[in-house]
Amino acid sequence: MTTLKTSILEIEFENPFLLASAPPAASVESIDKAFEMGWGGAVIKTITPDDLEMIEASPRYETMKSKGKIIGFQNIELLSHKTVKYWCDGIQYLKRKHPTKVIIASIMAPVEQKQWQSLVNILNNTPADAYELNFSCPHGMPENGIGMAIGTSEEISALITSWVKEVATKPVFVKLTPNVTDITVIAKAVEKAGCDGLSAINTVKGFMGINLDSLEPNLNIDGYSTYGGCSGEIVRPIGFRCVAQLRQCSDLSILGMGGISTWQDAAQYIALGSDAVQICTEVMINGFGIIDTLKSGLLNYLKNKGMKDIAELKNIAIPKIIPHVKLNKNYHLYPNIDEEKCVKCWKCVRICAESEHKALKINSNGVEVDKNACVGCSLCSHICPKEAIIMKTN
Ligand SMILES: Cc1cc2nc3c(=O)[nH]c(=O)nc-3n(C[C@H](O)[C@H](O)[C@H](O)COP(=O)(O)O)c2cc1C
Repeated sequence: MTTLKTSILEIEFENPFLLASAPPAASVESIDKAFEMGWGGAVIKTITPDDLEMIEASPRYETMKSKGKIIGFQNIELLSHKTVKYWCDGIQYLKRKHPTKVIIASIMAPVEQKQWQSLVNILNNTPADAYELNFSCPHGMPENGIGMAIGTSEEISALITSWVKEVATKPVFVKLTPNVTDITVIAKAVEKAGCDGLSAINTVKGFMGINLDSLEPNLNIDGYSTYGGCSGEIVRPIGFRCVAQLRQCSDLSILGMGGISTWQDAAQYIALGSDAVQICTEVMINGFGIIDTLKSGLLNYLKNKGMKDIAELKNIAIPKIIPHVKLNKNYHLYPNIDEEKCVKCWKCVRICAESEHKALKINSNGVEVDKNACVGCSLCSHICPKEAIIMKTN
């Protein structure tokens, strides 16, 4: 029998789909509803000490669209505005009502041992299943030495991880930022400091551009803007890369995220080393109801592959990712033109010539490939408007 059930650090998951720490997991009511609708768990919107000042800007979101569809999101939102007591009571309530669901408390505090440890000591008294240390918020917080300011420093990340581990009675995940030169450096530092798992990625620091009519920023707060965190489909390749790099350097449990909008994206995150996945932006665009197709799609995929659970899929793609120097340089693909699909627009011929190689020529039958000039780059197959070019070994 194929199942979506999985177990991470002895925590049982009904399914590997968790709400990421973000607006959909920012109130007890929302999490309650998500659990009713079938989500396997939730990472609570980052909880902070009550006296940490947080003043939001408006608006706080901007999107990037392609043909009317949101493909990218940027936010400059801060952390949970609810009190620690609200969350302690809320976690009790949620666990009593949904004992089979996983609740992870995301936390952040100023870089002081007492602040981190007292927050953890309070939350130790709740039935939360684990902690996620938010070392990775790229806006608002770094200016005050927290968020991504922590996660871009090996020393501070390791120090706080060790403070938390000293008192935590539950497994500790560290949520890493992709906004570093090498994510594995920070991962190795927090692993050495004792964390139990890694979460990645938080948002990618970016800027959503300017309006060319008003010459003001697209994310316009009274004429001004600031750099913010990008998420959604546009960051998926960065998330894939980071999770694969983490898996290549560590055996810790990994909660993968960044741009998951379909079960196929989730399956790829698992094949690249994730033990479970988290989703934020897609839920903010389409709501909790996406869980049905996420679950049925992943379950059917596992069944069709003859796999009994996601543990069989996990890490499967990792051996396929190797350094460039080790790639087989004798392997060479050539474009094959499907004459029936080709509409003789000559776009491939023009682009090939303008991008250096001049390997495609027009002849009386259509497009002819000059195999001596072709470097097998595959550009023509990607830009053909009719998908009439297939790359083959001869
Ligand atoms: C509006 C918004 C608020 C977020 N707030 C938090 C937060 O409080 N804590 C946190 O760890 N991550 C936060 N995130 C980051 C998400 O948890 C997630 O790491 C990121 O958005 C990538 O996943 P996605 O592409 O599925 O959105 C936030 C993201 C968005 C879009």
